[in-house]
Amino acid sequence: MLKKTFFLFSFVFLTACSQTGVEVTQTQQQAVAMPDTFSADAAYAVLEDGGNAVDAAITAQFVLAVTLPEAGNVGGGGFMTIAFEGITDFLDYREMAPSDAHRDMYLDDEGDVKPYESLFGAKAAGIPGTVAGMWAAHQKYGSLPWSRLVAPAVELAENGFLVPEKLASNITRYLARTREQGLNSNFASYFEQAKANTIFKQPELATTLKAIQQHGQDGFYQGEVAEKIVSFMQENGGLINHTDLAAYKAVWRKPLELNWQGFTLVTAPPPSSGGVAVAQWIGMLESYGSNHTLPDHNSAEYLHVMSEIGKRVFADRAEYLGDPDFVEVPVAKLVAPDYIKARAALIQPNSISDTPSVKPGLKESEDTTHFSIMDKWGNAIANTTTINLTFGSGVVVTGAGFLLNDEMDDFSAKPGVPNFFGAVGGEANAISPYKRMLSSMTPTLVTQGGDVVLATGSPGGTTIISSVAQSLLNALLFDFDAKKSANAPRFHHQLLPKDTIRVHPGFDESTLAELTDMGYTIDARRFGDVHLIKRTSQGVEAASEASGRGKSIVSAR
Ligand code: GLY
Repeated sequence: MLKKTFFLFSFVFLTACSQTGVEVTQTQQQAVAMPDTFSADAAYAVLEDGGNAVDAAITAQFVLAVTLPEAGNVGGGGFMTIAFEGITDFLDYREMAPSDAHRDMYLDDEGDVKPYESLFGAKAAGIPGTVAGMWAAHQKYGSLPWSRLVAPAVELAENGFLVPEKLASNITRYLARTREQGLNSNFASYFEQAKANTIFKQPELATTLKAIQQHGQDGFYQGEVAEKIVSFMQENGGLINHTDLAAYKAVWRKPLELNWQGFTLVTAPPPSSGGVAVAQWIGMLESYGSNHTLPDHNSAEYLHVMSEIGKRVFADRAEYLGDPDFVEVPVAKLVAPDYIKARAALIQPNSISDTPSVKPGLKESEDTTHFSIMDKWGNAIANTTTINLTFGSGVVVTGAGFLLNDEMDDFSAKPGVPNFFGAVGGEANAISPYKRMLSSMTPTLVTQGGDVVLATGSPGGTTIISSVAQSLLNALLFDFDAKKSANAPRFHHQLLPKDTIRVHPGFDESTLAELTDMGYTIDARRFGDVHLIKRTSQGVEAASEASGRGKSIVSAR
């Protein structure tokens, strides 16, 4: 058994000592941890050019729209957590429901949720936020010219790139699945020719990116690209109109910050559920650890305790979390030390709590993609971006060459009915015009004494929360290096399905047998794709999870 002394999880715990003895020294190192090689090389080149972490993030975001169409996008949205010259910041470029959206828009005459309508086709798309987000990021923090930052994406779309095998197989699998389900779109005509190890060019997307390169956000929300989006909507039963595009705004929010083990967690506030959830998860583990010995990493007890916490986290998520511009989200109450302590006190080391009895406590392919960047000045970003499921809504804006999101499925189409990720929701996340749908994206930075010591994040719908919490615990509580922190097998539990733990390959058979004996069902399916940067007194380390097609680069010390 590993013995750890726990500090009380708190908003006000300010001592800068570290449980894991991290002492940050000023280095001139810079690093990127990216979901593919093209974005890694392009983002790193920006840093080498003297650009900062936000500049590199803008380049990465646009490159991923070309080379990682499963999740990279201009037709989606995301969140960016930023630490810049000692200031922390959070950029919300989440999609919004169109003005013609309404709460029952995905229900049939009997009041049942219509299958696929919120997941596939033009009507599944929220107003895209990515271009406005990158433009806002550049206005506030950019140092290199916008045109230079968009240029690598234009080049890759126009002249093509060598298709990685994983992309080609994802396209083949997606086409087979949608054909089997009778879902038709123009996806095949755009992507079927992307064969492994051949050059794939996207001339229409190159035209869109050139408009963005030349005119900034107006190149997307106005002019020819906007015209193509609206025509596509009108021809295919979608809702987004010109007024909606003109109305879209990226929003600067205050990140959720709290103190834990001598570190400051800087993470995603609502409309993400992720920051609150990660805070609750690590807080309840800390509270449990003040009464029990911390279980060994990935032991049966560790998975059990973390699953018990997960039940409580997801019960709260379903009840309380939504767009803070529309509903009051009781964030402070949900992460208050006394509340966390009271919730954790109900966890028994040897028995599973009855699922229906776990209620909200105050009285979500899983695609999406994440990257982390640290520049030589110590500024850092963690950025998670999404079109929701792999290849989003499966429809390409004709003539503009980009896939639209199917983010409307992240709303609660009907209270109590699970969305694609099995997450249920209620009033707080009901559909309303211009409302942002609840997200699990959790781009997270951890600072100590004002210096960023960790940047982490992952795709994976609701499993994002587990990937982020566990990569953070791996790096800072168990003190694993970046590679092990990103690659150690992970697990996920989210209240429903009842008593089911989803696990990566790599767990001991005996651990899984112990959990089965306790009454858990084991669902062996990999999730997430962590891209993490860790900074210690020895220098900067970066890691991209080995099961994906990511790449990390760290400069020499
Ligand atoms: N579309 C996945 C999320 O935002 O959580």
